[in-house]
Amino acid sequence: MQAVVFDLDGVLTDTADYHFKAWKNLAASIGIQIDHTFNEQLKGISRMDSLERILEYGGRSNDFTLIEREQLAEQKNEEYRLLIASITPRELLPGIASFLRELKDEGLKIGLASASKNGSSILERLHIADNFDTIVDPAKLSKGKPDPEIFRTAADQLNLLPSECAGIEDAVAGIQSINGAGIFSVGVGVPPEAKADWNVNATAELTLGELMAHFKAKK
Ligand code: BG6
Ligand code: MG
Repeated sequence: MQAVVFDLDGVLTDTADYHFKAWKNLAASIGIQIDHTFNEQLKGISRMDSLERILEYGGRSNDFTLIEREQLAEQKNEEYRLLIASITPRELLPGIASFLRELKDEGLKIGLASASKNGSSILERLHIADNFDTIVDPAKLSKGKPDPEIFRTAADQLNLLPSECAGIEDAVAGIQSINGAGIFSVGVGVPPEAKADWNVNATAELTLGELMAHFKAKK
């Protein structure tokens, strides 16, 4: 194994609640109420795809033009950006700082495969941007997760084969994307149906030794 490719939201830091808050307010402004159960489906899904799912859920899929939908997505993003403005390194999820250090010390490459267009600025706020050898730009992708494109692109950008990488995700759509790319998948708190190659309950369980052992066992 030569690289680990990370999802961001829910793996490096817990921004899921900020996304939820911003979507909940946006949805309420157009008469749609969403709850935490519904929010699970939005994890890993791009901003526009998330909006489409909310409109469909509220029976309002045909009520807005493309320009209006873009404005709604922008409105959500403005609130989200206010919420993430005060993120500090304290919001790194447990175990992530030491896991990143271990990877660096062992000379492994580190990549980011997040659907979030706010990814780079969140890495800066968490003070971990320098650890990343590559960041996939989600704006350049033709398909979002669960399509494998984002994880395949991360391996390409690192000049590695998918079989030389591991990917870490907290969303079912993300595990499907990693598996589809032919990358060893690690699920953080994802249901077994997602079929991750290795499941942990929380980021605190991530160590290079354990990851290597599971990676080699699959070969
Ligand atoms: C993913 C989140 O990482 O990024 C999704 O899990 C979010 O909930 C997506 O919709 C897009 O994020 P952004 O910051 O570009 O709106
Ligand atoms: Mg995630």
